[in-house]
Amino acid sequence: MSEAILNLEDKSYRLPVVEGTEKERAIDISALRDMTGYITLDTGYQNTGSCMSSITYIDGEKGILRYRGYPIEQLAERGSFTETCFLLMYGELPKDEERKAFSAKLTESSMIHEDMVRFFDGFPSTAHPMAILSTMVNALSVYYPYFYTDDFMSQTFDTMATRLISKIRTIAAYSYKHSIGKPFVYPKHDLRYCGNFLHMMFDSPVKPYEIHPEIEKALNVLLILHADHEQNCSTSTVRLVGSSMVNLYSSICAGICALWGPLHGGANQHVIEMLEDIKDEGVSIREYMERAKDKSNKFKLFGFGHRVYKNYDPRAKILKEHCTVLINKFGIREPLIDIALELEDAVLHDDYFVERKLYPNIDFYSGILYRAMGIPTDMYPVMFAIGRMPGWIAQWKEMHDTVPFKIGRPRQIYTGKTLRDYVDMDRR
Ligand code: ACO
Repeated sequence: MSEAILNLEDKSYRLPVVEGTEKERAIDISALRDMTGYITLDTGYQNTGSCMSSITYIDGEKGILRYRGYPIEQLAERGSFTETCFLLMYGELPKDEERKAFSAKLTESSMIHEDMVRFFDGFPSTAHPMAILSTMVNALSVYYPYFYTDDFMSQTFDTMATRLISKIRTIAAYSYKHSIGKPFVYPKHDLRYCGNFLHMMFDSPVKPYEIHPEIEKALNVLLILHADHEQNCSTSTVRLVGSSMVNLYSSICAGICALWGPLHGGANQHVIEMLEDIKDEGVSIREYMERAKDKSNKFKLFGFGHRVYKNYDPRAKILKEHCTVLINKFGIREPLIDIALELEDAVLHDDYFVERKLYPNIDFYSGILYRAMGIPTDMYPVMFAIGRMPGWIAQWKEMHDTVPFKIGRPRQIYTGKTLRDYVDMDRR
């Protein structure tokens, strides 16, 4: 095994180097503080591996993304979302019998408790669906309680996991219906995962919804592309919260909250709002780009840049192709597509963005596809959460299966006042 040598205050320390199956290497510093009294400092965790994981592999320089070894391009073209859920959680693609059993479990779990349905009445119709989603997912722990025991993984995990994957789409569709003041549409047992979601979203007693295979396929692709992305902000949140041994629902609820932010899964909503601004308000593409370059504000060009991808985001490439297919098939006239293409081109030829390797990410094109499907803008982060659910669950399970198990607890370098005495009120 190779080692790294650390020279510190006249002493030399040997630190083991660990290597992954794709030759990624890390210096194992788990004994650093005990050995040296030092900790490491890495704000934003750009150089910190929080775990060893066998779920998702990314090579950001080459634009590679694989789930359990399978390239994302093949899964998106030939697989389904439910197969991908199974793959992420259990490590292998399901055999036919396993797929049928898994689908049957998803179908059985698709309804939500009728008492819980009444919760929706308590939310104002203006509530953001991400707030509703996180609340309802946490509330599942009230209606479907469980206790974490040693045999949890063998006895209860499957039920919890299928429940979450299935119910999230029902909760999502109900939150949309609530926001537009229309009656809830119950899931149908003869529909597949994505078709059932579209049915609950768009069917109505006065206007039945026809499920187009192209839209069902595009939704499958979208969810597959979002299904996991190793240790991103929301997944790390699920792991960190879950490491306290709180229940799975609450861990996932925390992940949904982390995902909502505009720098993460909330970016897709902001991309469309930005494109609309450019169309309606006459804010030019150049003005937006200049604002994003200006370091005196925190504004970023939504849909561009990625912590890991420094060449291109393979998911954005797949989505761009699907956008074109769907828009041509349904003859959708979408001026935002032209603006998006113009913006992408301007960014790819601008020194600031080129030097910093800022390319379109998955959120740049996902919003346009959702829009073509008729999904409203504030539901985009919710769609992301539906897709990410199997990844969160798989990562949570992997963490709990790892021995030795440790609660997540980073350290800090304190920069506040040093010791001083309390000052009485009349002397302040
Ligand atoms: N617009 C303008 N400048 C940017 C952008 C952007 N979208 N993204 C990064 N930069 C700049 C940074 O300000 C930094 O500039 P500096 O070197 O002059 O200080 C430089 O590029 C390097 O930034 P990174 O180190 O790559 O940024 P980081 O890894 O910290 O952040 C992030 C990645 C959050 C995705 C960032 O690119 C961003 O905010 N993008 C816009 C929001 C977005 O689209 N988020 C979705 C990401 S994909 C996902 O979560 C599914």
